[in-house]
Amino acid sequence: MPAIVIVGAQWGDEGKGKATDHLGSRVDYVVKFNGGNNAGHTVVIGDEKYALHLLPSGILTPGCTPVIGNGVVVDLEVLFREIDGLEARGTDTSRLKVSSNAHVIADYNRTLDKVAERFLGSRKIGTTGRGIGPTYADKMNRIGIRIQDLFDEKILTQKVEGALELKGQVLTKVYNRRAPSVDQTVEELLAHADRLAPYVCDTTLLLGQALDRGETVLLEAGQATLLDVDHGTYPFVTSSSATAGGACTGSGIPPTRIDQVIAIVKAYTTRVGEGPFPTELHDESGDFLRNTGFEFGTTTGRPRRCGWYDAVIARYAARVNGVTDFVLTKLDVLTGLEEIPVCVAYDVDGERYEEMPANQSAFHHAVPIYEYFPGWSEDISGARTLEDLPANARAYVEALEGMSGARMSVVGVGPEREQAVVLHPLR
Ligand code: GDP
Ligand code: IMO
Ligand code: MG
Repeated sequence: MPAIVIVGAQWGDEGKGKATDHLGSRVDYVVKFNGGNNAGHTVVIGDEKYALHLLPSGILTPGCTPVIGNGVVVDLEVLFREIDGLEARGTDTSRLKVSSNAHVIADYNRTLDKVAERFLGSRKIGTTGRGIGPTYADKMNRIGIRIQDLFDEKILTQKVEGALELKGQVLTKVYNRRAPSVDQTVEELLAHADRLAPYVCDTTLLLGQALDRGETVLLEAGQATLLDVDHGTYPFVTSSSATAGGACTGSGIPPTRIDQVIAIVKAYTTRVGEGPFPTELHDESGDFLRNTGFEFGTTTGRPRRCGWYDAVIARYAARVNGVTDFVLTKLDVLTGLEEIPVCVAYDVDGERYEEMPANQSAFHHAVPIYEYFPGWSEDISGARTLEDLPANARAYVEALEGMSGARMSVVGVGPEREQAVVLHPLR
């Protein structure tokens, strides 16, 4: 009756979608517990490539029930566009369940996300502009709109009135924008209510009962450890709890039922948006990683910032998430490099840091201390066992395992489902 958590160890886009899909056929439920359509997960199955944003990656596995948990913020238009897109390609989405306690992204919050970024100027976060931050702020401010509110027009109208009383003023008086009317917003939200109704339920009860029956639940994070609002590089983070703790609050599954935490970590590092990134490369090595790894955002298409593997960050992710297994992805992208630098510690103003500096300014000034590993030139995309990997690739994986704080259980060698070397089966 285990619950398993999958999190990102770095700044997102580590390949969580592929890992979830990989486990999909061996689990009964896949739950998205945080974030919204700021996420972008690419899953490749044979010749078909899927880009998922709001739907849990388990949607692609027949027999697996995908769940949007209470910790998620839902853009209803995006939800149905994604459902329609998958149905048109022959994917059955009828098993989807949506928490009645999940919050809804209203039109004014999409607008506020974009205008706030412009207002911040050089201090901007580089958000995805999907209304994620303002919607979570409303949740904490207790003026949010929840899925269940859509089924009672009177309550919905009262809640939208309450929210717009404040947010309308902010839009017009601070940002000089037109605020939507209450009726307009209510109408937009109600437009989806009938279609949404059959999917909505108490997902905490559903999942609790599933665990009681001995079924397996996989909790899939959006974003990643260093984008977590508590444990990430604040304020350059997303507004939700993307670490393993968030899996409990965002799903209603208690910590005592979780017995495995899998962190996905790329064989190098990427980041989208603003904020500190010690191993970032501004030279042709960075271009090599971006072009070879195809590091362009699934959600916004932005080129991702690229850098070498950072073991300090991996150790931090292992610690705050209680990682039991790492899945190391995109090892194939490093093929052809003569030597591969790995950041083993930081130099901050002459002082050596083995762990993440607790102070934001220190992290901003962190200069990576590198160790260098010999590269390989053999094509590894067909490797399926450790023995199939060239000695230098094996040594690289073993070295990362030694410095990252948990075992490397799977190594990704290509985007397709089967392109992986399994060292310790995850299930
Ligand atoms: P997510 O947000 O963590 O789900 O990751 P994304 O889907 O945004 O980005 C990861 C990208 O890497 C996707 O395009 C995947 O198809 C691809 N990918 C995942 N694992 C591997 C791997 O082992 N090798 C290669 N070459 N690509 C991979
Ligand atoms: P997946 O799930 C990478 C980044 C944005 C921005 C910051 C805040 O695909 O790994 P937000 O719109 O969430 O308020 O933006 O977080 N960000 C991501 N970066 N992958 C993601 O998701 C991200 N989701 C948000 O670029 O810097
Ligand atoms: Mg992504």
